[in-house]
Amino acid sequence: METKKRILTGIRPTGALHLGHYVGALENWVRLQESYECFFLIADYQALGDHMDDIDGIRSSVLEVTLDWLAVGLDPAKSTFEVQSYVPQHAELHMLLSMVLPLSWLQRNPTLKSEMESLESEHKTLSLGFYNYPASQVADILLPRAHLVPVGDDQLPHIEMTREVARRFNRLFAPVFPEPDALVGRVPRLVGIDGQAKMSKSLGNCIYLKDDEAEVTNKVRRMFTDPTRIHATDPGHVEGNPVFIYHDVFNKDVDEVNELKERYKAGTVGDVEVKRRLAKALNEFLEPIRARRGEYEVRMDDVKDILRDGSSRARVTAEETMNEVRDAMRLRYTE
Ligand code: TRP
Repeated sequence: METKKRILTGIRPTGALHLGHYVGALENWVRLQESYECFFLIADYQALGDHMDDIDGIRSSVLEVTLDWLAVGLDPAKSTFEVQSYVPQHAELHMLLSMVLPLSWLQRNPTLKSEMESLESEHKTLSLGFYNYPASQVADILLPRAHLVPVGDDQLPHIEMTREVARRFNRLFAPVFPEPDALVGRVPRLVGIDGQAKMSKSLGNCIYLKDDEAEVTNKVRRMFTDPTRIHATDPGHVEGNPVFIYHDVFNKDVDEVNELKERYKAGTVGDVEVKRRLAKALNEFLEPIRARRGEYEVRMDDVKDILRDGSSRARVTAEETMNEVRDAMRLRYTE
């Protein structure tokens, strides 16, 4: 049997997943698990970096995220679901790679820089662990020796750094690690329902995968549209209009979307109608996801088993890599 290439990707357990996660990453994960050996990581260590004050939140999010994954169709029979702290080799490799990683690489990482600025603006203490998290992410990816990392576009600097660390380790010690490629989803940045550039929990502008029908309809009703349009009979703008962006992304009925766009531009359809159709399309899209979530919600013991089993499988792969790393770094004194 031909061995499959590997994927490692993951998410911090800091809340339920939303539509932005879906089109930015999850959709790719579901598709790719057919052709890759996938490791899906719940990065609880990483979550401690900026959520130390909310350990309860991390704890409940570990299970929420797992449910969201199962709901969208990630399949634990095909893929490995692992919890970072259940596979302590993540911490070991992180520590060793932090010797290989020049500090200047962290200092110039744009994602880290902007996250540090926002933590500072909230007057939060910046811990060494937070500063170090991109290095921990490098270790996450290299631990199973992944070839591909499907992620949201804010993660690209971390993948680039992973490639650089792999190259440097391989040159300094031995060729242990492949240089992984990044893969960004169909919609790298989905606008929020408030029209802000990004759907994000901290901005409070999300539609969650687990929102029920009424919540979705309500949120769509509140959505920002064309700010220049006052009456339903005014010609409206479709480009950059969040309601139409969502129609393009989620409404499978392309003819309906095109017709609505024409009528909107001509001023012959109102926001209420366009939103009503969007709510319907979104609910159709979310319905099978909710149904699958419901099937698992009543079997939480099985959900926990999925994390336990996946983590123990991940530990086996991790230990294989660590043995090569310990050999390469000559951490052998008694053999
Ligand atoms: N930084 C990612 C997030 O915030 C989570 C993550 C941790 C990750 N380790 C990873 C993503 C490795 C991809 C690969 O969601």
